[in-house]
Amino acid sequence: MEKINRTKRCDTDAYKGARARRYAEHHRKSLRTRLTTAREQQVLYRSLADAGFPETALDLPCGTGRFWPAFARAGVKRLIAGDGSHGMLEVAETQRLNDAIPAQLLQTSAFEMALPDESVDFAACLRFYHHLSRPEDRATLLAELKRVSRRFVAVSLWVDGNIAGNRRIRKPAPEVVAGYGKRICQRREDVEAEFDAAGLAVVRHYDIWPRIAMWRLYLLEA
Ligand SMILES: C[S@@+](CC[C@H](N)C(=O)[O-])C[C@H]1O[C@@H](n2cnc3c(N)ncnc32)[C@H](O)[C@@H]1O
Repeated sequence: MEKINRTKRCDTDAYKGARARRYAEHHRKSLRTRLTTAREQQVLYRSLADAGFPETALDLPCGTGRFWPAFARAGVKRLIAGDGSHGMLEVAETQRLNDAIPAQLLQTSAFEMALPDESVDFAACLRFYHHLSRPEDRATLLAELKRVSRRFVAVSLWVDGNIAGNRRIRKPAPEVVAGYGKRICQRREDVEAEFDAAGLAVVRHYDIWPRIAMWRLYLLEA
């Protein structure tokens, strides 16, 4: 089992030390956050099932490893996990389930993943896409996910077409910044057009709290 591999550094680290620990605690702090994590794990499991229970997977950015139980439950035999933040990876290190989940823990940029082409069967990018306000950053991310996956890509993000999203999309959007920034809600048609432009076809989508919340997971196929 490798410890954190730091060959590829990320330029920014928004989750140093205590903030990384608070991120993990935040998702356990109330019934609401625990239920949402459970539901997100459930839909990730479903997407893995719909992808035919792949043997190898990527979780990037993995944060503190909140989704590793779903990969394990779906029978993933080798998980590669990565994040740009050393602080997040230090917390994630303590959450390892076994030697294979994750087999590798990488400090790497999502825009330039330190992985060879076609490294995994299924590349998951959870709760990251909607932090990217520049279309060119989203396109770079999708190109990287497609490059490192042999077939499937899963992306979770915020979309409209539900109570929270329809309200959010009417408010002024946050300032456009390079890379990781404040969260944006996108129109479903726009997101799906971005996937299409990246050469990724929508296999299925899964709403975390249908009709209420903005969270949606897309299963995509190259
Ligand atoms: C909202 S968290 C999501 C983490 C995890 N997927 C989850 O849902 O718990 C966003 C993560 O993106 C990471 N991150 C930010 N910019 C990054 C970059 N350029 N490359 C890789 N990871 C990055 C942060 O360190 C953080 O762990």
